Order: sequence, then structure tokens, then C-alpha cells
Amino acid sequence: MEGVRYCGYVFIITAIYCCFMMQFTVAQITDPAEVLALVSIKNGLVDNMKYLEDWEKGDPCTSNWTGIHCFNKVGANGYLHIKELRMMAMNLSGSLTPELGQLSHLQFLNFMWNDLTGSIPEEIGNIKSLKLLLLTGNKLSGSLSDQLGYLPNLRIFQIDENQISGRIPKSFSNLNSVQHIHFNNNTLIGQIPPELSNLSTLLHMLMDNNNLSGYLPPEFSILPRLRIIQLDNNNFSRSEIPASYGNMSSLVKLSLRNCTLRGSIPDLSRVPSLHYLDLSWNQLSGSLPNKLSNNMTAIMLSHNRLDGSIPESFSSLPLLQKLTMDNNLLNGSFSTNIWQNKFTSTSSLLIDLRNNSLSDISGTLEPPLNVTLRLQGNPVCKNENVRNIVKFCGSEAGAEHKTNNSVIVTGACPIAACPKDNYYEYVPNSPVPCTCASPLIVGWRLKSPSFSYFDPYVRQFEQYMTRDLHLDLYQILIESNSWEEGPRLRMQLKLFPVVGVSTFNKSEVIRISDILQYWEISVVDLFGPYELLSFTLEGPYSYLNPDIQAKHKNKGAIIVIVVSGVFAAFASAILTVLIKKRQAKYQRILSRKRLSAKLSIKLDGLRSFTFREMTLATNNFDHSNQVGEGGYGAVFKGILADKTVVAIKRATEGSVQGQKEFLTEISLLSRVHHRNLVSLLGYCDEEGEQV
Ligand SMILES: *[C@@H]1O[C@H](CO)[C@@H](O)[C@H](O)[C@H]1NC(C)=O
Ligand SMILES: *[C@@H]1O[C@H](CO)[C@@H](O)[C@H](O)[C@H]1NC(C)=O
Ligand SMILES: *[C@@H]1O[C@H](CO)[C@@H](O)[C@H](O)[C@H]1NC(C)=O
Ligand SMILES: *[C@@H]1O[C@H](CO)[C@@H](O)[C@H](O)[C@H]1NC(C)=O
Ligand SMILES: *[C@@H]1O[C@H](CO)[C@@H](O)[C@H](O)[C@H]1NC(C)=O
Ligand SMILES: *[C@@H]1O[C@H](CO)[C@@H](O)[C@H](O)[C@H]1NC(C)=O
Ligand SMILES: *[C@@H]1O[C@H](CO)[C@@H](O)[C@H](O)[C@H]1NC(C)=O
Ligand SMILES: *[C@@H]1O[C@H](CO)[C@@H](O)[C@H](O)[C@H]1NC(C)=O
Ligand SMILES: *[C@@H]1O[C@H](CO)[C@@H](O)[C@H](O)[C@H]1NC(C)=O
Ligand SMILES: *[C@@H]1O[C@H](CO)[C@@H](O)[C@H](O)[C@H]1NC(C)=O
Ligand SMILES: *[C@@H]1O[C@H](CO)[C@@H](O)[C@H](O)[C@H]1NC(C)=O
Ligand SMILES: *[C@@H]1O[C@H](CO)[C@@H](O)[C@H](O)[C@H]1NC(C)=O
Repeated sequence: MEGVRYCGYVFIITAIYCCFMMQFTVAQITDPAEVLALVSIKNGLVDNMKYLEDWEKGDPCTSNWTGIHCFNKVGANGYLHIKELRMMAMNLSGSLTPELGQLSHLQFLNFMWNDLTGSIPEEIGNIKSLKLLLLTGNKLSGSLSDQLGYLPNLRIFQIDENQISGRIPKSFSNLNSVQHIHFNNNTLIGQIPPELSNLSTLLHMLMDNNNLSGYLPPEFSILPRLRIIQLDNNNFSRSEIPASYGNMSSLVKLSLRNCTLRGSIPDLSRVPSLHYLDLSWNQLSGSLPNKLSNNMTAIMLSHNRLDGSIPESFSSLPLLQKLTMDNNLLNGSFSTNIWQNKFTSTSSLLIDLRNNSLSDISGTLEPPLNVTLRLQGNPVCKNENVRNIVKFCGSEAGAEHKTNNSVIVTGACPIAACPKDNYYEYVPNSPVPCTCASPLIVGWRLKSPSFSYFDPYVRQFEQYMTRDLHLDLYQILIESNSWEEGPRLRMQLKLFPVVGVSTFNKSEVIRISDILQYWEISVVDLFGPYELLSFTLEGPYSYLNPDIQAKHKNKGAIIVIVVSGVFAAFASAILTVLIKKRQAKYQRILSRKRLSAKLSIKLDGLRSFTFREMTLATNNFDHSNQVGEGGYGAVFKGILADKTVVAIKRATEGSVQGQKEFLTEISLLSRVHHRNLVSLLGYCDEEGEQV
């Protein structure tokens, strides 16, 4: 037993904390380094809504801290590890602290739709297990660190709608598993690194609304799976669209609106799955592409310098919804064959040819009801011999078809039997009439759909969502949908329980929430990438989701809880040390003794005390100076040589940990700040003591 006596920390604190030291008796507890990281993460955040109040009680994994999800089984080191941080839409401000990088087993990091400021800590690059990095919709700034490129398991990388600046690091070419890069709506500059073209798993690249420059790397054409490229509103400074893009056989959507591109449109006839092409607001010249895929829904080429005539092939595109080529130099005649296709009840076609040089019409100018044609500003408008021409040449001609749907469900069911104010309503498509149930409400947005009118795809969308949610078709309702800038499609969905019950049970709610929050709805080309905007649990569900539900606690209790909490985390960490380290004691002490001579880690701002200073300050750890007894050691009142009054913690036998762990924890603790704590002054790691 020689030398193995005590371990602990010099920790200058209010004395109350000792009361909280003994409250943990569970066997399975969270990795202490991760607990301390959470304490530090919380310290960096401003939590106005007090969602994180419970990050102060007990252990993160076993006491279910809000937003923390852990692995069910202990890891190799005997501790539970944190798997997910789900902090979406919690009105959090403040910033992300570097200690995030200590959550070494994390797979899922979601801080979307908060108000975070500061930069993205490069330490996130240490979390090799990370699969989803979701920081969409904050006010993060600073530049992207090279370190973030070394995440071999990262599948979804979303930092869109922030204020990230600087260049995209070349190191991102090491993201060997990445499928989604969503960097849109930031202030990124420089060129898209051609090196990223070795990201063979990449499906969607959204970088629109930045300030990217240089050229569009032709190297991207070799990406075997890349389906959506959206780079609108960047400045490629008069570069051309690489001809090699015509070789991208997987491409579904190419959107390069307002990118200062010039040159001609490459031959895209060999891109069989292309649905959506937006090259408007550039300086493109030459003629229109002669042949495009049969799957085209949108061809948007307005505000360029394209000339020549409209190819006959545009007349045989069965899915076409939008053909906008206004403000170009198109000449020749316009063929009314273009609407020869059969129209289903939901189809709709917008043809905008304003401000061109079209001089003639071939065919009869009698488009079907759902075809909108605009010809204003063409020479043909002056040709009075063309029947009906005036109808299509006015400035008011063909106001765009608005599809801002809002479903209002009416029926013959007795209103009083299903009280709306209690969050119940009739299930509109229920196979049993007048079924009353309470829905889950989901805010959903398609970030880059490959169509421009939703109506023809509503049914397909419902099938797609219900398939992956394992629900019946009648259980979903698209309550409203509207187009936003992008264009993006925002929807409010309602999910109803099966006929026979009026609410989903708890496990069903969790199941559905997990599928939505985990990005487990498969991405299909037509609907493109999506984002979960909200998952609202109201009325009968409000008890269920502590992650979303606001907690109203008695203000008076908060201070005590906070103090207890900080130490709960701390004590939990220490207790884990106590439990786990006991067996390994001898080995550890031996190796520590060997190491301590060689290792000399300098901890910024902390004093390294000698053991003698500690014995002097406490009168050789005299019992009369003892002010408390915790789970891992005793606390003494002490007076340092310079008369500073301090609390000195010296742990009981068996709590000894390795020097590296000890110093890591000291370093972490030195960053814990709280109004009920004074700071850590220093530590002693000498003569087999950890004080
Ligand atoms: C934490 O959640 C688990 C599973 O949902 C539950 O069994 C357990 O009782 C919860 N623990 C606490 C302290 O709330
Ligand atoms: C919380 O955030 C929501 C939207 O994210 C916002 O509507 C609400 O006003 C915010 N509340 C506070 C108190 O900031
Ligand atoms: C991509 O290129 C970088 C260097 O540019 C290299 O380190 C990395 O291993 C490559 N990744 C793949 C998947 O080839
Ligand atoms: C993205 O940026 C564009 C242009 O700055 C803006 O019009 C658009 O509203 C932004 N989109 C979102 C969803 O913030
Ligand atoms: C875009 O970047 C250029 C330099 O590359 C800079 O001069 C310009 O101010 C930036 N524009 C915006 C809107 O940030
Ligand atoms: C084109 O992009 C610039 C920023 O790059 C923006 O200021 C401008 O409004 C955009 N123009 C159009 C027509 O979208
Ligand atoms: C685009 O970049 C070029 C060169 O960097 C610059 O001269 C031009 O003014 C920029 N155009 C816009 C619209 O920002
Ligand atoms: C397209 O691919 C073919 C063979 O795969 C190649 O010969 C041709 O040069 C490529 N075209 C461009 C423009 O890169
Ligand atoms: C595109 O259209 C062709 C028929 O022209 C069809 O065989 C193919 O499946 C379509 N591809 C997609 C992705 O819709
Ligand atoms: C249309 O414009 C092209 C190029 O400007 C020209 O070669 C062609 O003769 C014109 N066709 C007609 C019918 O005016
Ligand atoms: C036009 O569309 C509306 C709904 O979008 C539909 O009710 C109507 O039947 C359609 N008409 C034709 C002629 O396709
Ligand atoms: C057509 O061109 C005229 C003159 O250049 C311009 O004033 C008008 O706004 C343009 N119309 C459209 C729809 O762009």
C-alpha cells in the first residue's frame, strides 16, 4: 500500500458542495472526461429557456440529461459514452467550446436552429466517430478549420445559414464518407478546391449564396454519385461551365444561377437523369441545348445572351413544368407544339419568353388552361395577323400560378365531438369517417427539390414519407406548403395515429422522432435533401419530449440546483474514477511513479504546489481543519503562505488515477466557471499524491 494514500484536487469553492458528493450509487456512469466536457459546453452556452437545467443533476447518461443520448453499453474503459447531442431549436446562444472534442464517441452533433455565435471549434475534428455534424441556422462565424477534414465517418456536413467566412479547406477531400455538403448561405470565398473531386461518396453539394470565385472545377465531373450541384449566387468571374459536366451521368439537378458564367451551355444530352437545370442570370451565349433528358421538369435560362431558335426537342418533354428563357436573344418562330403533351389534372406549365427576338408563331395559339405563356417584348407581339397574340403580350399576361396550398378540412362530422383546442382533430383521409385523433406536427423543408410545382408530386411525396416512417398513407397530411427563396419548399406535416386510437403511444412518438431527427428518411432525387425544422409535441404529447418541452422550475430553487449540478457532474466523474480505478491501482501507481519524473505538463494559469505547501497550509491535514468529506476524499480549509484562504481536496485511498488523466481533468476543471464557485488555483501532483 505504500505511497497509495490519497488523491484529489485543490479546489477553492463554497463549502456546500460536500453535501452532494455521496449521492451516486449507480454502477454504470458516464466517462468522466465527457462529463467534464459537458459542464464546459454548458458553460459556453447561454440557455435562456433553461432547457439545460437538468444538466446538473446526477449523471448525464443515467439521469437522462436533456439532449444527451448515450450508448446502452459501457465502452472498453468501463464507462458509458455519449452518442448524441440533440440540441435542435433550443434558443441557445453563446458559443461552442473546444471541449466538444472530448466527446470522443459522439456520432451525432445537432445544434441546428439556435443562435450560436463564435466559430466552429477545430476540436470537433478529433471526434473520429462523428457521422452527422449539423449546425445549420445559427450565427456562427470565423473560418473552417483544416481539422474538420479529418472525420472519416462524417456522412452529413451541414453548416448552411451561418456567417462562416474564409476558404473551403483542401483537407475536406479526406472526408471519405461524406454524402452531403451543405455550406449554402455563408460568406465563403475563394475557389471550390478541385481536390474535393475525390469525394467519391458525395451526393449533394449545396454552396449557393456564398462569395465563391475562381472557376468551377471540371474535376467534379468524375464524381460518380454526385446528383445535385447548387451554386447559385456566387461569382465565378466569367469562367465557363466545364464541358465535362456533360459526362456526369448521375446528375439530377444543376443550378448555377447568377454565377457570372460565360461561354456556351455544354452538351447535356448524355445526362439521362437530369431533371432541373437553372443557368439563369449569367452571361451565357450560343444556342440552346439541342437535346435534354426526357425527365426535365425545369429549364431556366433567363437573363443570358442565348440566341438561335427554340429546339423542337423541347416539345416532347412530358414532365416539363417550367421553361423560362426571358431576356435572351432568341429568334425564329415559336412552335405551339410545346404544349402538345397530355395534361393530367395536376400539371401546370409556365413558358416565359419575354424580351427575346421571336418573330413568328407556328401552330395555333390556344394553350390549355394550365399553360401560362408570356411573350411580351418580342417582335411577334406587333404581328396583328397572329390570332390571340394580344392575350400573351400584355404585361399582365399569365400571372404565375400560385401553389401556396393550405388544406382546410371540412366535413359532416360533429365539431363538438373532436375539440380542436385540445389538439384533437378529424383525420381527413381516415378510412373510418369522423375519426378523431391528435397529430404530431412536423415542420419540413425540401432544400433543393428537382421540380418547381409540387401538385403533381404530392401523392408521391406522401408515399415516400409514410414508407420510411412505416405509416399508412392516410396517416399523413400535408397541411400547408409554400415556396421560399432558393427555391425551397417548406411544409407543415401532420402525422396521425392508426385508426382505433386517438394518440400515438410513447414508443411510437420516440420511434417517429428518431427517424426524423436521425435523417433516416432516405433521400430521393426528386425531393432532394431535406431538413427538419420542428417537431412539435402539443396537448396529449406535451409530457413526452423533455428535449422540446420547456421546463418551468421554481426560480428560488435554481441556485441550489446549479451548484449541486456542477458538483454532481464533478463528483460523478470522481466516483467513476473510484469505482473503475480500484483494480488497476497498483499498476497505475507504479507507472505513475515512473512517469511523474519525466512528465511535466505545464497547465496555463494554474499553480503547481508542492506537497509540503499543502501540509503547511492545512497543519498537516489536521482534523480540526477538515470542512467536509466527499465520495473521493476529504476537504480541508487551508491558508497558503500568502494568506489566501483555500479549500484543499485530498482524496481517499483508491481514487488515484493516472497522471495524464489527472492533469487532463485539472485542465478541464480550470475552465469551469460558475457564480457559486471561485476558480481552481492549482494542484499538487507529487509524492504519489494528487491534491
Ligand atoms: C432515463 O430514461 C430511461 C429510459 O427512458 C428510464 O428507464 C430511466 O428511468 C430514466 N432515468 C431517469 C433518472 O429519469
Ligand atoms: C425561441 O426561438 C423561437 C424560434 O426559434 C422564437 O420564435 C422564440 O421567440 C424564441 N424565444 C425566446 C425567448 O428567445
Ligand atoms: C483525396 O485526396 C487527398 C489529398 O488531396 C487524400 O489525402 C485523400 O486520401 C483522398 N481521398 C480519397 C478518398 O481518395
Ligand atoms: C440564402 O441567401 C439568399 C441570398 O442571400 C437569401 O435570399 C435567402 O433568403 C437565404 N435563404 C435562407 C433560407 O436564409
Ligand atoms: C466577395 O469577395 C471579394 C474578394 O474575393 C470581395 O472583394 C467582396 O467584397 C466580397 N463580397 C461580399 C458580398 O462579401
Ligand atoms: C446575384 O448575386 C449577388 C451576390 O453574389 C446578389 O447581390 C444579386 O442580388 C444576385 N442577383 C440576382 C438577380 O439574384
Ligand atoms: C466578380 O469577381 C470579379 C473578379 O474578382 C470582380 O471584378 C467582379 O466585380 C465580381 N462581380 C460581382 C458581381 O461581384
Ligand atoms: C467524357 O467521357 C468520355 C469517355 O468517358 C471522354 O472520352 C470525353 O473526353 C469526356 N468528355 C469531356 C468533355 O470530358
Ligand atoms: C429518365 O427518363 C428515362 C426515359 O426517357 C427513364 O428510363 C429513366 O428512368 C428516367 N430517369 C429518372 C431518374 O427518372
Ligand atoms: C437568329 O440569330 C442567329 C444568330 O444571331 C442568326 O444566325 C440567324 O440567322 C437568326 N435567325 C433568324 C430566323 O433570324
Ligand atoms: C389545371 O390545374 C388545376 C389544379 O392545379 C386542376 O384542377 C385543373 O383540372 C387543371 N386543368 C387542366 C386543363 O389540366
Ligand atoms: C424587358 O426589357 C425591358 C427593357 O430592357 C425592361 O425594362 C423590362 O423590365 C424587361 N422585362 C422583363 C420581364 O424582364
